[in-house]
Amino acid sequence: MNKKITNILKKKNKIKIVSLTAYSKNIAKILDDYCDLILVGDSVANVLYAEKNTHKISLENIIKHSLSVRKGVKKSLLVVDMPKGTYKNKKVAKKNAKLIKSLTKCDAVKIESNNKNFEIIKELVKFKIPVMGHIGFTPQFKKKFKIEGMTKQKTEQLLKEAKRIEEAGAFSIVLECISSQASKIITKSLKIPTIGIGSSSHCDGQILVTDDMLGISGFYPKFVKKYAFLNRVIEKAVKKYTRDVKSKKFPSNKNFLNGTKY
Ligand code: KIV
Repeated sequence: MNKKITNILKKKNKIKIVSLTAYSKNIAKILDDYCDLILVGDSVANVLYAEKNTHKISLENIIKHSLSVRKGVKKSLLVVDMPKGTYKNKKVAKKNAKLIKSLTKCDAVKIESNNKNFEIIKELVKFKIPVMGHIGFTPQFKKKFKIEGMTKQKTEQLLKEAKRIEEAGAFSIVLECISSQASKIITKSLKIPTIGIGSSSHCDGQILVTDDMLGISGFYPKFVKKYAFLNRVIEKAVKKYTRDVKSKKFPSNKNFLNGTKY
């Protein structure tokens, strides 16, 4: 098994797994020193392309972003999201996952669960493509946002789904917006690590969309903790640049390549 995946598995019940998303080399390079896992998420559709949801990102596009991210990632486990419609059946999933893996040299792909596609996970794993599962609020399949696992019955359903994903061979699973109680039960019941987003500290690790936690995406639901206000930092810099250009303070002699101002 891939050594980076073994390392992630070993962390279960010992040390929390740190994960974030990246869509480009420059950000990935900064994250790589701190993260165990970096995801090229299909959230790139909302975050960078200003789409209403994650549905419109193409295979070619996610591959392009992953190629950029790959250049910034040395030590973290690199996972690439399979876009909506690219894993409709075993044959399509295998062809597309192979393409993603061979072109981007990622360590694994992530596919969202629709509570039916367990055989697809099995097929990819059979062909040595490591898979990360994803349950709860799965934006590729669910239109309306709601917190999942609020009742005993719903928790049992989620647990069954998670167990089937584990049995299919996934090495890890994202729990998105699942109640604290349900994520605790699921995390305790699985052998593979759970990575939560909006799903409480009971999960074996956490993931956030980097642009959200840095304060530049404009999307700040309660489960996002903002660790920076980069919007303010950027605005301040742009304001200063504007002033400098207008007042001819920039470029100064220091910025002329041959040191001569004509
Ligand atoms: O696309 C994404 O960023 C994700 C995370 C929310 C887990 O799937």
